[in-house]
Amino acid sequence: MKGSSISQKPPVLILLGPPGAGKGTQARMLEERFGLVQLSTGDLLRAAVASGSDAGKAAKAVMEAGDLVSDDIVIAILRDRLAAPDCAKGVILDGFPRTTLQAEALDQMLAESGQQIDSAIELEVDDAQMVTRIAGRFTCGACGEGYHDTFKVPEVADTCDCCGAQDMTRRADDNTETVMSRLDAYHEQTAPLVAYYADKGALRRVDAMGQISDIQDAIAALTEHVMP
Ligand code: AP5
Repeated sequence: MKGSSISQKPPVLILLGPPGAGKGTQARMLEERFGLVQLSTGDLLRAAVASGSDAGKAAKAVMEAGDLVSDDIVIAILRDRLAAPDCAKGVILDGFPRTTLQAEALDQMLAESGQQIDSAIELEVDDAQMVTRIAGRFTCGACGEGYHDTFKVPEVADTCDCCGAQDMTRRADDNTETVMSRLDAYHEQTAPLVAYYADKGALRRVDAMGQISDIQDAIAALTEHVMP
């Protein structure tokens, strides 16, 4: 079903939720299903760290401690990425915004091109489940597909179902101590965005405690409504 959105501008969706909520997993699904582009500030920052850029050098220790990277660095990275031609198809923001200042900057960036947020979809999960999900997470280093020791196991051990590479990696910040810092940062600085988007009438909520495929279906139903 095509949507009720009156906007003909490219869709802009936000996935909100704590570490391990499934933002990356679900954003990749939306990318494949709807042709939207996943913009993960976590991935962009990890690429900056790997490249050794000034932004990456500034972000590295902050990320390893589980704290939030400064707004000015993240906003600059996101602004650059959002200006790339592929984003004209519409975007799913994964991990951005994370502070009220970032949310206001995003509103401003979109307004400059006559756009606005279509939906901010909150993935509702409890903290204990987050720690379990993050402790078991690993990712294909070649294509970025995410896996889990228990919940999403590759069909052939250590081999990516999507691209066949044998290059599984675990993130440096996926340890128990850092996860607790990341959860604290979420509750203190990011959770207020739920009210921010509720006030704008853009907030949608999805129970993210269930099966990955059921959550996909719930988010897809919301996404259909904002596709042009
Ligand atoms: P970032 O990379 O954004 O990490 P995060 O928010 O902590 O989120 P995660 O990637 O850990 O989790 P996710 O919700 O994507 O879950 P996933 O789908 O992988 O940020 C990392 C750091 O960068 C931050 O700490 C900060 O320092 C910095 N940063 C990034 N953006 C920033 C910003 N805007 N401002 C400032 N700093 C910023 O799923 C997790 C696992 O669970 C996987 O193994 C998956 O297979 C499994 N799983 C998923 N769904 C389910 C399910 N329904 N049931 C069972 N298992 C599931």
